[in-house]
Amino acid sequence: MNPLGGVLSRYPGPRAEISTHRDWPWWRRVLPVIASHRVSFVAAVVLSLASLVFQTLVPNELSRAVNVVVTGRGSLHGAVELTLLLGILAGVTGLLSRQYLYRTAFDVEADLRSLIYEHLTSLSFSFYDRVQSGQLISRANSDIRSVQMYSTFAPLIVVQSLIGVLAFWFMLAINVTLALVAMIVMPILYVVGLKMRQVLFPISWITQARLADVATLVDENVNGVRVVKAFAQEEAEINRMADAAERVAWAYETDARIRGRWSPWVQNLPQVAIALVLGVGGEMVIHAQLTVGAILAFTAYLVMLQAPFMMLGQLVMMGQRAKASAERIFEVLDETPDITDRPGARDLDSARGEVEFDHVHFAYRDDVPVLRDVTLHIGAGERVALVGATGSGKTTVARLLTRFYDPLGGVIRIDGLDIADLTLHSLRRLVGVVTDDAFLFSVSVRDNIAYARPNAADDDDVVAAARAAGADGFIRDLPLGYDTVIGERGYTLSGGQRQRLAIARTLLANPPILVLDDATSAIDVHVETAIHDALDSLLEHRTTLIIAHRVSTIALADRVIVLDEGRISAQGSHEDLLASSELYRRILAQADAEDRS
Ligand SMILES: Nc1ncnc2c1ncn2[C@@H]1O[C@H](COP(=O)(O)OP(=O)(O)OP(=O)(O)O)[C@@H](O)[C@H]1O
Ligand SMILES: [Mg+2]
Repeated sequence: MNPLGGVLSRYPGPRAEISTHRDWPWWRRVLPVIASHRVSFVAAVVLSLASLVFQTLVPNELSRAVNVVVTGRGSLHGAVELTLLLGILAGVTGLLSRQYLYRTAFDVEADLRSLIYEHLTSLSFSFYDRVQSGQLISRANSDIRSVQMYSTFAPLIVVQSLIGVLAFWFMLAINVTLALVAMIVMPILYVVGLKMRQVLFPISWITQARLADVATLVDENVNGVRVVKAFAQEEAEINRMADAAERVAWAYETDARIRGRWSPWVQNLPQVAIALVLGVGGEMVIHAQLTVGAILAFTAYLVMLQAPFMMLGQLVMMGQRAKASAERIFEVLDETPDITDRPGARDLDSARGEVEFDHVHFAYRDDVPVLRDVTLHIGAGERVALVGATGSGKTTVARLLTRFYDPLGGVIRIDGLDIADLTLHSLRRLVGVVTDDAFLFSVSVRDNIAYARPNAADDDDVVAAARAAGADGFIRDLPLGYDTVIGERGYTLSGGQRQRLAIARTLLANPPILVLDDATSAIDVHVETAIHDALDSLLEHRTTLIIAHRVSTIALADRVIVLDEGRISAQGSHEDLLASSELYRRILAQADAEDRS
């Protein structure tokens, strides 16, 4: 029903967190998450070990069977049946081990993803000011995958290497000389495999980076298509795209060329070993020092030995990549939110709505002050307009009131209580902010309006809020009315319509303190006048801070405060300020000119 309902109901979440010991090696920090899935993980490792042991026993039986055939002594039946049984056991345990392993791997991946997104949600605005969130999220995806792959598959590769040891032990048991002869090639195989990976490794990074470039370009071109077309830059964008695509192609081609040069060695060196075994071993068979079956078993073990030699190199490479990925994930997880509930913070469920800024100083960056010694008092139920040139700090005032940022100096109070002593949750219920760039979700109009109270609000509440915001009329004209889905694949609304939905959304939340930050800027002056009557009655019982440029909007307020480069330069009634403040007259004149144009 309500697509956002799932988000609001509490999900069980990961069972463990990443360790907070920043000086621990990366795998140790990730360990708790893997350990929380230890049952399936251990099952996977044990079953895979069993499967490999069964596999290594097969050549032994095969060798016995062949010897029975060659010499005509003993029972062929027993050997064949045992081989068959071993094969079935190896198959079943292998299948189960893979199932458990994949379950562990994807559970770990889901946990890491939840941990990161949960943490991202907790981080403060200052973090999002610093990083590019889009890049952050797409990067997180590939990093999570590489950590997951390594931490679940590495132990399995180690198990497979143990099998190499077992196979070698069997070979030694059959014939020591032949075992050593067969091993001659292995160190070469290892070195060649390692060399190949060393050359390939940088290329794989380059490929990833270039693929990311292409993804960014595609994203920009799709999302920014209106800008591209408006400036007739299609040609240039296509060229940029072709360039990026060519760079990816080069990376892939280089990768293929390197593989082409090295793979034949890696793939065919084992044949040399087999030839050696056949040559030396055949000689031994002729001199009756070895059975034919033993040669057969030998070649089978040889094949088993190869795999670990090749995979160990891969393990090293995956390890390097996982380490780099984990460090980038930790970069996000180690980021602490700077705005949190103080210990002992209290819930304020209702408020009269008295707002006070007491000598407030603020800067986003140390060296650029944005608010300087701002002191203002807004009585409960009073309506105040905040007016100022662009960049004078009006939006910043609203952000401080909701604790999106904390002031560097001074205190902000609601009903005489320092807002830093309130829980963030209750503070943000007390103060409703409507901004000019209203963000709407890709859900129905109804769900967008009911966003703050998805379960509590009924249809009447939604319609009442929409009416007050002057949105009911155009909503009913939409193809599906209140059920029309907004956004990407849905219906696109005009700027003014979006603003009216945003106002309705905040009115439904019914906060005692309301901030309208340029919230009616995109709404037509005539339409705005029409909503004013409805708004007027709604603002009656709340403290309202109206950030605006238009005289008609400012007229909603009892009092006007003029902000100039982060300082309060004047305050009073509209008429008084018109008479006394040159700055006020200038700002109004400019807003008026913009509305006419
Ligand atoms: N997240 C941020 N990081 C750094 N500086 C910022 C940030 N947000 C705003 N600023 C700067 O702070 C100053 C005040 O910005 P603010 O958004 O409060 O102005 P405003 O009065 O709301 O302007 P407008 O009328 O254009 O909305 C500006 O100089 C702006 O560049
Ligand atoms: Mg602003």
